[in-house]
Amino acid sequence: MTKITYVEHDGKEHTIDVAEGLTLMEGAVKNMVPGIDADCGGACACATCMVYVPEEWLAKLPAKEDMEETMLDFCEHSQPNSRLSCQIKATKELDGMRVTMPESQH
Ligand code: FES
Repeated sequence: MTKITYVEHDGKEHTIDVAEGLTLMEGAVKNMVPGIDADCGGACACATCMVYVPEEWLAKLPAKEDMEETMLDFCEHSQPNSRLSCQIKATKELDGMRVTMPESQH
């Protein structure tokens, strides 16, 4: 299990044990974490699963695929530390990570 803390835009926290191999989006949706809508079901086509990742965790994440990069380019709330949570699988290395959601996703 990988412990991930999802922080809503208003500061409300949800700490979830995400099974290894599931994406961070799946872990959030299964546990009804508000702020991760995942309208496209993980197809990298909606950007409603976006999270902001703190600097210290960014380097532990796999590099973005072109499709994720393109989606984030089109998303108006995107920041340099934005990632799509449907493209990040839970691994041991990510245990303890905190991510925040933009105000537009709630
Ligand atoms: Fe749609 Fe991640 S769920 S882009």
